[in-house]
Amino acid sequence: MKTRGSAARRRVLILGAGGHGRVVLDILLQAGQYEVLGFLDNNRDIQSRRVDGLVVHGSISDLERLARELDLDGAIIAIGDNGARRGLARQIEQAGIELVNAVHPSATIAYNATLGRNVVVAAGVVVCANCQIGDSVILNTGCIVDHQTMIGEGSHICPGVRIAGRVKVEPGVFVGIGATIVPKVTLGCESIIGAGAVVIDDIPPMATAVGVPARPIKAASASEEVAAMLLPADV
Ligand SMILES: CC(C)(COP(=O)(O)OP(=O)(O)OC[C@H]1O[C@@H](n2cnc3c(N)ncnc32)[C@H](O)[C@@H]1OP(=O)(O)O)[C@@H](O)C(=O)NCCC(=O)NCCS
Repeated sequence: MKTRGSAARRRVLILGAGGHGRVVLDILLQAGQYEVLGFLDNNRDIQSRRVDGLVVHGSISDLERLARELDLDGAIIAIGDNGARRGLARQIEQAGIELVNAVHPSATIAYNATLGRNVVVAAGVVVCANCQIGDSVILNTGCIVDHQTMIGEGSHICPGVRIAGRVKVEPGVFVGIGATIVPKVTLGCESIIGAGAVVIDDIPPMATAVGVPARPIKAASASEEVAAMLLPADV
């Protein structure tokens, strides 16, 4: 390993060079805390090319090798799919590579709010007092998370969402753009809230809920339905 001065910015790669990767790059550049060395992406069509001026060095499976070769300090996962992001984060941490956060300088985060690892906090986000934001959460552009709300691991809160106080968002939840969540409700794990929905009651795990007020339109995710189809007929 090279010896670097203590003032040197920490060197990171962004995993995922799609639209969300570009957003994460912008956040890291605006924040100025890290030196972004480029991207990794499994899409071969963009490998060795540049995205927003930075090289896509290879696929995500190259991370461990590149961590040594590039003298990397850490990485951040910029993959929108909640399940993929959570699973990959666990693999990377098991490999001993640090996952860092990207927090836009225009975000406002209460002094006593807590953030996990691999968290993205985009421009204009407000996180109020006593909130707990889990690992691998995306708080997307301009969303508001009010006091004492918990956002579970691997959830994605889309742009312009407003979440009131004391809401519990379980792991893996997707809250669509512009949705509103009233105080004290629970969004069950891996549930999906449609764009523009107003949630006034608890949402069951894996349900998809849309509308004003939000009502479930699907009881379980496609993956669960597929799993059920694979069971023997007499089970
Ligand atoms: C909720 C959502 C995930 C459902 O997608 P889907 O499972 O493919 O559902 P479909 O498009 O088949 O729609 C099913 C029904 O729900 C209705 N519906 C879907 N989304 C809706 C919404 N946001 N609000 C109200 N009704 C909605 C459809 O009109 C359809 O009604 P119908 O059965 O009477 O025709 C999707 O529509 C959505 O809102 N996604 C949000 C995307 C987003 O915020 N992206 C931002 C990324 S940063």
